[in-house]
Amino acid sequence: MMNEAAPQSDQVAPAYPMHRVCPVDPPPQLAGLRSQKAASRVTLWDGSQVWLVTSHAGARAVLGDRRFTAVTSAPGFPMLTRTSQLVRANPESASFIRMDDPQHSRLRSMLTRDFLARRAEALRPAVRELLDEILGGLVKGERPVDLVAGLTIPVPSRVITLLFGAGDDRREFIEDRSAVLIDRGYTPEQVAKARDELDGYLRELVEERIENPGTDLISRLVIDQVRPGHLRVEEMVPMCRLLLVAGHGTTTSQASLSLLSLLTDPELAGRLTEDPALLPKAVEELLRFHSIVQNGLARAAVEDVQLDDVLIRAGEGVVLSLSAGNRDETVFPDPDRVDVDRDARRHLAFGHGMHQCLGQWLARVELEEILAAVLRWMPGARLAVPFEELDFRHEVSSYGLGALPVTW
Ligand code: HEM
Repeated sequence: MMNEAAPQSDQVAPAYPMHRVCPVDPPPQLAGLRSQKAASRVTLWDGSQVWLVTSHAGARAVLGDRRFTAVTSAPGFPMLTRTSQLVRANPESASFIRMDDPQHSRLRSMLTRDFLARRAEALRPAVRELLDEILGGLVKGERPVDLVAGLTIPVPSRVITLLFGAGDDRREFIEDRSAVLIDRGYTPEQVAKARDELDGYLRELVEERIENPGTDLISRLVIDQVRPGHLRVEEMVPMCRLLLVAGHGTTTSQASLSLLSLLTDPELAGRLTEDPALLPKAVEELLRFHSIVQNGLARAAVEDVQLDDVLIRAGEGVVLSLSAGNRDETVFPDPDRVDVDRDARRHLAFGHGMHQCLGQWLARVELEEILAAVLRWMPGARLAVPFEELDFRHEVSSYGLGALPVTW
């Protein structure tokens, strides 16, 4: 569907998303747009035009401003992919990432305590144990090994199933259906089918915990929220689906690209091996550098908003390019270089404002432990194929790698 808003300049609005030239850098046009205005018109796949914000300050301003909505059915909301329309057509199955306050904060606050930094820290020993088990197995096998299939896919999915207290036997099903939900290569029908199957499984899991609660996250929600009548099962299913999907492909992609940085930069690998205390800083810098939510975040203005030199009218869509904001040289000097000595904590990789990533502390623990474990178990690890042969995944909402063949 075309947005109503007419372009506000005579200039041609370029197609978005743009193409990368270097696989580890955002498309170069983004930096050019950043130097022009606070926001530029771009054309999406469906012919609609939206505003694209490419600066760090602009992204923070929009994401922190309640005059922009995250509700996909709002007039002008950018349909970044064909499957975004599916969410719009089924508002009842939307999760709180697609809601505004007060509905959003009502649901998010039920989960806040499970995702605090100290809760993520408490999971660290279990994550380390899991990594030792996985890598211990991988190093006994044949070389090269694919660290995507062997490591960065199973770790986030096993951590989530651990949190949910879900059986390991359903892991493949969960991985498979979650991948369909984030991959742009599938049709809306395939996505709807995967979503319904995942929802069916989650509904069963929730109902089983209502009958027979344990100590996992789902049981806690059942005891604290469902039983006293604060949360309906119909609301809990999309909430659990959000945790599964948001925590899965993102962490896989970010871990794969972070490992790639380590494998192709022996100096970086050497420093982290000698001084593991640098790992948290390195993880933060690699989050900034890779910014895997590659096409950015979508919002729509519900009131007219003046964003520096640009007037965004009510009913116009806005896309915030996190990868462009994270390469903004006014905030991160020499932004196209990985520099573990810089303070990268202001990066936008987890978004900003009320929807800022709920699972960010858990993601940090997983990423730190994955990098540390590869350095520990595979000293001297290097790519087993030329860089040019790597399978970069352009068609997914979390940019990443299809495979990472490694030897050591
Ligand atoms: C939201 C990125 C891992 C759960 C977000 C947002 C971003 C993001 C950019 C903001 C979306 C928006 O404003 O529209 C990432 C990245 C990750 C990661 C880069 C890994 C490197 C995780 C994990 C979990 C998780 C491990 C949980 C298990 C969520 C949830 C939201 C969210 C529930 C919605 C928050 C809300 O709407 O209030 N994430 N995420 N994420 N993330 Fe993550």
